[in-house]
Amino acid sequence: MSVGTPLPHESAALHVTGAALFTDDLVGRTSAVLHGHPVQAPHAHARIARLDPAPAYDVPGVVRVLTGADVPGVNDAGVRHDEPLFPDEVMFHGQAVCWVLAESLEAARLGAAAVEVEYEPLPAIVSLRDAIAAESFQGNRLLLESGDVEAGFAAAAHVFEGETEMAGQEHFYLETQASLAHVDESGQVFVQCSTQHPTETQEIVAHVLGLHSHDVTVQCLRMGGGFGGKEMQPHGYAAVAALGATLTGRPVRVRLTRAQDVTMTGKRHGFHATWKVGFDADGRLLALESTLTSDGGWSLDLSEPVLSRALCHLDNAYWIPNVRAAGRVARTHKTSQTAFRGFGGPQGMLVIEDVLGRCAPLLGIEAAELRRRNFYADGQATPYGQPVRHPERVARAWEQVTESGELARRTAEVAAFNESSPHRKRGLAITPVKFGISFNFTSFNQAGALVLVYKDGSVLINHGGTEMGQGLHTKMLQVAASTLGLPLDKVRLAPTRTDKVPNTSATAASSGTDLNGAAVKDACEQILERLAGVPGETWEARVHRAYLDRIQLFAAGYYKTDGLHWDPAAMRGNPFKYFAYGVAASEVEVDGFTGSYVVRRVDIVQDVGDSLSPLVDLGQVEGGFVQGTGWLTLEDLRWDERDGRLATSSASTYKLPSLSEMPEVFNVALLENATETGSVYGSKAVGEPPLMLALSVREALRQAAAAFGPPGTSVELASPATPEAVFWAVERARERSLSWTG
Ligand code: MTE
Ligand code: MOS
Repeated sequence: MSVGTPLPHESAALHVTGAALFTDDLVGRTSAVLHGHPVQAPHAHARIARLDPAPAYDVPGVVRVLTGADVPGVNDAGVRHDEPLFPDEVMFHGQAVCWVLAESLEAARLGAAAVEVEYEPLPAIVSLRDAIAAESFQGNRLLLESGDVEAGFAAAAHVFEGETEMAGQEHFYLETQASLAHVDESGQVFVQCSTQHPTETQEIVAHVLGLHSHDVTVQCLRMGGGFGGKEMQPHGYAAVAALGATLTGRPVRVRLTRAQDVTMTGKRHGFHATWKVGFDADGRLLALESTLTSDGGWSLDLSEPVLSRALCHLDNAYWIPNVRAAGRVARTHKTSQTAFRGFGGPQGMLVIEDVLGRCAPLLGIEAAELRRRNFYADGQATPYGQPVRHPERVARAWEQVTESGELARRTAEVAAFNESSPHRKRGLAITPVKFGISFNFTSFNQAGALVLVYKDGSVLINHGGTEMGQGLHTKMLQVAASTLGLPLDKVRLAPTRTDKVPNTSATAASSGTDLNGAAVKDACEQILERLAGVPGETWEARVHRAYLDRIQLFAAGYYKTDGLHWDPAAMRGNPFKYFAYGVAASEVEVDGFTGSYVVRRVDIVQDVGDSLSPLVDLGQVEGGFVQGTGWLTLEDLRWDERDGRLATSSASTYKLPSLSEMPEVFNVALLENATETGSVYGSKAVGEPPLMLALSVREALRQAAAAFGPPGTSVELASPATPEAVFWAVERARERSLSWTG
């Protein structure tokens, strides 16, 4: 049985030797390619008064300047039709106003510099706070309500209020946005694209070109990381490449430089939250009232569904009987913020963990105890009305981390260390994760596959999901091999293409395996059924016999997740097939002079059901956790508020986690006896949930900072908790200490 075997990623050897091809590597195999380069606006908000491409044509090698006048279809790259591809009005610093195609990238760059553009600057709103003050919002407002918040507050023994702010995050996938487009003699457009959502890329390309979907094929070989940043962001670049290819008849490549990628593409949403919370005398949550405002940037993109998921994760793993949570999307003159691993879940969960971390000292309850006391119990439902199935798994993972991480002993050690160490303090925090799996939008929860068995018995699998390093293809190979009862080397996987499996959903919401795995399994089972009575000693013999007997040796598989329903207006329903659970404990040590810190040890137990591919899952847990730690502690997006320029637009100014930030001790275990009935081979999604385990690092930093103050110090910690932010938290704790002793 291949499923459950710890196998390396199917492309691991190719990745580490550099032999794996990515979209832009295909350029070298294509002759006479034209290279695309954008003209980027130097204003956060401006009207384009004049755009003259003529001087660009004087640059040797320039072949064509693409402007809005060239668009045969719709000049828009957004699914909400609010993203002009060639704009009349600049909406953020760095926005592309037109594109230059040339024989070389350098010629395209020089051509872009020669294009003359006159801008009339307009007033801009850059920060989220300014947008809230100016009531600059976009899209629908959301409201999540359950129980009776007023009654909850009236019954509460303790009521606290506060604000929480958190920054966004740059995806910084290793491979930047890339597309390569060809047009054949019949006008058929073929776009190779680094996209998590080939179908939607296909649709946008077709809209822009004024074509039908069957005129456009999108292929994704693999991505060098997506992390949500290639769910919606690739479409416009693919459309530019495809438009260039149709107009010139030559292949066109658009591959963003790092600086272009960072200044042009959307990021994780920063959020602002106000909250009021009520506890009973024992520290049980009674009521929560909150308003979440996300920083959507210049257009809607995925901001509404991200906000919806944020609201649906405001409870994390805690039962809150009375909730009123409002959500709105701010419009600012920034890149259009988008999906990023967790899709709003991390932002919602940060709010409740911030609330608990700040309130625990005020309630006089240990933070770990306050969290545990508020866990969901069997029979309870979320604020949007979905019963929480298997809540005991959180408690089980919590106990396992507590034991294997020796938390009792280490908590005492941390206290003793802090007692004897005036300038360095430690913190040890444990936090849970409950993350809903499925797309909130019910229709997206479907998938297709096309499995081909050739006469020699070899098998080729096509499915609608994309590979971005997360190991989806590895798992699909394992599912097909297990279902057909074949060794892995009999099964091969073809690149994802919209002409093989149509109308696919984005590979997102961590549900790539659940959806496509079930579709692959369905196709394989159909083939097995047809082969049932066919005689033969071996698989090959039976397949050959079946061919001679004229039995169809290929099948289209299909899957849709049952039992889902969601009313987006009422914010009620059963949007998730199940919840993925996990628990992490992190220990940090903070230097009181500088605020710098190290993560000493991390212990994680993650519920992945019956793991399809334990090595792949381990990699997802470790990678997700580290990426979450980056968001919460290092990665500091700063916009210049005067001109809206992103000041942190390269790896020299935007600090990413690297080897030096890895926890000194890092133990990851998968929860045992956790079969998920009704999911493919009892497995559970793993792509996003572990990112939110990093909240334990933030909470550990808070506790370490608090240790610089008197007992009961409640610490407000900025997010990201950079050394600078931790330093100020330590300073505030120390000030309390001065007034306390004095
Ligand atoms: N892992 C790697 N290595 N690279 C990625 O881009 N994306 C994450 C996660 N893990 C990502 C990753 C995100 S945002 C999602 S939604 C899931 O993988 C998508 O894949 P899945 O549905 O197959 O888990
Ligand atoms: Mo992941 S943010 O759902 O692509």
